[in-house]
Amino acid sequence: MSENITSAAAAEAKPPRKKRIFSAIQPSGEMTIGNYLGAIRNFSAMQDEFECIYATANLHTLTVRQDPKVFKANTEQLYAMLLACGVDRSKCLLFHQSLVPAHAELSWILSTYTQFGELSRMTQFKDKSARHADNINAGLFTYPVLMVADILLYQADMVPIGADQKQHLELTRDVAERFNGIYGNVFTVPDPYIPPIAARVMSLADPTKKMSKSDDNTRSFVLMTDQPSTIMKKFRSAVTDCEAVVCRGPEKAGINNLMDIYAAVTGKTDDQIVAEFEGKGYGDFKTAVGEAVVAMIEPIQQEYNALLKDRKYLNQCAMEDAEKAAAIAERTMQKVYKKIGLPRR
Ligand code: TRP
Repeated sequence: MSENITSAAAAEAKPPRKKRIFSAIQPSGEMTIGNYLGAIRNFSAMQDEFECIYATANLHTLTVRQDPKVFKANTEQLYAMLLACGVDRSKCLLFHQSLVPAHAELSWILSTYTQFGELSRMTQFKDKSARHADNINAGLFTYPVLMVADILLYQADMVPIGADQKQHLELTRDVAERFNGIYGNVFTVPDPYIPPIAARVMSLADPTKKMSKSDDNTRSFVLMTDQPSTIMKKFRSAVTDCEAVVCRGPEKAGINNLMDIYAAVTGKTDDQIVAEFEGKGYGDFKTAVGEAVVAMIEPIQQEYNALLKDRKYLNQCAMEDAEKAAAIAERTMQKVYKKIGLPRR
């Protein structure tokens, strides 16, 4: 009797299992402040609250032809950048997708539970095949299935997702429910996670477009690796309007964007920003935004550069976490193999 009471009390005292989050980012080159303020910054915030599994989605990147040396360097650099941005391996896992073979294995299996028609409807596939008309490979088409596998492999409860990936998460839910419908509860059906703070950063040259590193105009974006003097120059040349009053307005996309960035970086409210720049011109405001961004980026750059001096260490970290991830993934794979009638792994 008393034993029962103690174990019941112990069970009650035990904190509930943390929700698990999976997210991955493609190593497709440099990262902009838009990527940071819109997504990466949340990685370190989420790891405190949730059990986070993060990966570089390097297998996804193969759908566009890569130069091997550049690709390898980009992958290592993304890993270092994520650590520099506050991803803490004592609280989460951070590895390269390619180091855990189960991603590719589950992807194949789940491709047989995904309809051709579903994949044909993916807007990203349509966009990408239009942009890379010379290389519409099968991987570009089945890309969403690999993403489905990434997520389901770890039984993720939630996936932080931007608007561009929403359709892929819906597919993930559909495939999970379809599979569960046939075999019983195998996969956790993931929910989208909307982070409390995520800025949508627009181009500095055309503030009606999202900031993108593939823009021809290099002044339209700020990279996490840009020199402070370059950052200042880019903000000073940011497109605004001729009203010269720092406040929001429907015809003030440029100022709205700068206010978004300034707010995201400093934590100030719109009212505080308006008060701070009352009676001042856009020049002062742009300088202040530039300086705030430089102050945010400088410590990240220092850490990033220090980390990149030891690539062996970085690769060892990725391997260690991949091993831990593989152990979680293996449990899912065993279940899947058993359910669908493949010989035991
Ligand atoms: N496809 C995503 C992108 O390009 C990256 C990605 C791969 C991902 N697998 C994922 C994101 C799983 C979330 C969950 O942004």
